[in-house]
Amino acid sequence: MARSMEEAMGLALGLISRTCSISKCIIFFLILVFHPTTEAYDSLDPNGNITIKWDIMSWTPDGYVAVVSIFNFQKYRHIQAPGWTLGWTWYKKEVIWNMVGAQTTEQGDCSRFKGNIPHCCKKKPEVVDLLPGTPYNQMVANCCKGGVINSWVQDPGNAVSSFQIVVGSSGSSNKTVRAPRNFTLSAPGPGYTCGPARIVRPSKFKSADQRRETQALWTWNATCTYSQFLSQNAPACCVSLSAFYNETIVPCPTCSCGCQNNITQPGSCVEGDSPYLASALARPSKNSFTPLVECTSHMCPVRIHWHVKTNYKEYWRVKVTITNFNYRMNYTQWNLVAQHPNFDNLTQIFSFNYKSLSTYGSINDTAMLWGIKFYNDLLMQAGPMGNVQSEFLFKKDKASFTFDKGWAFPRRIYFNGDNCVMPPPDAYPWLPNSTSRELIPLIQIVSAFFAALAFLVSAV
Ligand SMILES: *[C@@H]1O[C@H](CO)[C@@H](O)[C@H](O)[C@H]1NC(C)=O
Ligand SMILES: *[C@@H]1O[C@H](CO)[C@@H](O)[C@H](O)[C@H]1NC(C)=O
Ligand SMILES: *[C@@H]1O[C@H](CO)[C@@H](O)[C@H](O)[C@H]1NC(C)=O
Ligand SMILES: *[C@@H]1O[C@H](CO)[C@@H](O)[C@H](O)[C@H]1NC(C)=O
Ligand SMILES: *[C@@H]1O[C@H](CO)[C@@H](O)[C@H](O)[C@H]1NC(C)=O
Ligand SMILES: *[C@@H]1O[C@H](CO)[C@@H](O)[C@H](O)[C@H]1NC(C)=O
Ligand SMILES: *[C@@H]1O[C@H](CO)[C@@H](O)[C@H](O)[C@H]1NC(C)=O
Ligand SMILES: *[C@@H]1O[C@H](CO)[C@@H](O)[C@H](O)[C@H]1NC(C)=O
Ligand SMILES: *[C@@H]1O[C@H](CO)[C@@H](O)[C@H](O)[C@H]1NC(C)=O
Ligand SMILES: *[C@@H]1O[C@H](CO)[C@@H](O)[C@H](O)[C@H]1NC(C)=O
Repeated sequence: MARSMEEAMGLALGLISRTCSISKCIIFFLILVFHPTTEAYDSLDPNGNITIKWDIMSWTPDGYVAVVSIFNFQKYRHIQAPGWTLGWTWYKKEVIWNMVGAQTTEQGDCSRFKGNIPHCCKKKPEVVDLLPGTPYNQMVANCCKGGVINSWVQDPGNAVSSFQIVVGSSGSSNKTVRAPRNFTLSAPGPGYTCGPARIVRPSKFKSADQRRETQALWTWNATCTYSQFLSQNAPACCVSLSAFYNETIVPCPTCSCGCQNNITQPGSCVEGDSPYLASALARPSKNSFTPLVECTSHMCPVRIHWHVKTNYKEYWRVKVTITNFNYRMNYTQWNLVAQHPNFDNLTQIFSFNYKSLSTYGSINDTAMLWGIKFYNDLLMQAGPMGNVQSEFLFKKDKASFTFDKGWAFPRRIYFNGDNCVMPPPDAYPWLPNSTSRELIPLIQIVSAFFAALAFLVSAV
């Protein structure tokens, strides 16, 4: 809580110090104050969710044919390899006769069937996508991408995954069918919680020539939301800082993501050159999504380093390096979200894709960044290749630009949708011989802010 207060204050002060309009500042501050940040609530993407849509397209003698689609409506959280697993609990004794564009992981006990054997008879089926290269006759639109779903901002065209399912023993009219219950989504690993399926207006589909519209007979939607806390119970990344004007490199806070402890948890991390590494990687782990990290003081799988590199007359330059410390993960289609007030004057960006994420109307101080396809969209596992880099060139806005008080450092960083641990503001590299090295106590900032606010309000 203290951290988010500090963040909020930093943001509010940054805004006040700029020449923004009075009403904008007040509204922004009110938004900050009345939206306390909880783990599940993400202020940069408040409506982010994954929606599962279940469209019944036709009835069969003992059931129906449906198209099930998974829409990723999250701005910057994607589902990476090895992809999603969707599960549910049937309401009655339904079976899956056939599936196109996906498959269940287990068939289950189909011994009560003679002749035709269903694809799956389990009460709680678990479905995975098919791999790329699936024969054409086993495909449907938006299937067969190995369960990978892009984020909404990164690639809206690939933010959906679909499969077709033929359900039996369900009854074949809208009076007898019941929606599946207790949807589960692993993406991969835990993190999502799904709500119940609700009857919604039937989906409509446009024909290829756009001249005819058809519709589903019956549609259910279920919504799944992400919580970082459920996902790994510990932060997944951290931020380190440096600047050309100070030789100190401010490292990630110690124990950002965990502590090195050989006594209670031997093997919680590995040294890069130790013979143990090969055997730890070779041993099939019960949960392969648990990171196997290189031993560091922060123990994070991923570190983002922000270096203030150069100062020009009109511009300034930042170098960002993302380093992978996880031996068990190649991060495919990774993304980074960074918040800094100068992003609204970003002039040039090298070797990353960029899109502005406008969070509060016109204040576009938040950038989404991701790798260039086939060049650096893959962040390799820990080791010599396990990093990607970029440089940003910002145009100075004379009214707000300063190297003082850590202004040149980011306010917030997310990696793959997880909020990264920042060093405390009083540890930031300072300008040499700065007269204001002492941090202004928080209470002073608050009272100064409210004095300013009162003044502004009375001036309106
Ligand atoms: C899910 O996201 C979509 C798209 O942003 C939004 O329209 C919808 O209201 C969201 N659903 C929930 C339950 O938040
Ligand atoms: C159901 O989901 C679809 C696609 O995910 C979305 O377009 C539609 O608005 C949703 N309906 C409701 C009522 O949420
Ligand atoms: C079921 O379908 C019939 C027509 O086939 C329709 O009249 C009825 O309203 C539907 N029931 C529901 C609950 O939608
Ligand atoms: C479904 O989840 C609810 C709680 O959300 C639980 O009470 C119920 O037992 C679950 N049903 C099945 C069949 O797993
Ligand atoms: C953990 O092990 C490493 C080498 O394996 C050693 O350098 C380090 O001091 C140990 N730490 C503790 C707390 O025992
Ligand atoms: C990462 O990719 C490289 C090259 O494609 C591969 O050799 C390596 O096994 C992969 N690592 C993991 C953890 O999947
Ligand atoms: C910020 O948003 C404004 C409009 O809201 C747009 O004109 C401007 O190009 C954006 N700046 C950047 C760097 O994307
Ligand atoms: C920076 O961007 C803001 C909003 O886009 C604009 O009002 C301002 O003039 C820009 N400053 C410079 C120095 O270009
Ligand atoms: C660099 O910044 C650190 C704070 O991180 C400070 O202790 C140190 O005095 C600074 N160095 C100089 C030369 O100002
Ligand atoms: C700044 O500090 C350095 C030592 O930290 C000192 O040598 C130098 O004279 C100082 N410069 C000014 C202008 O005070």
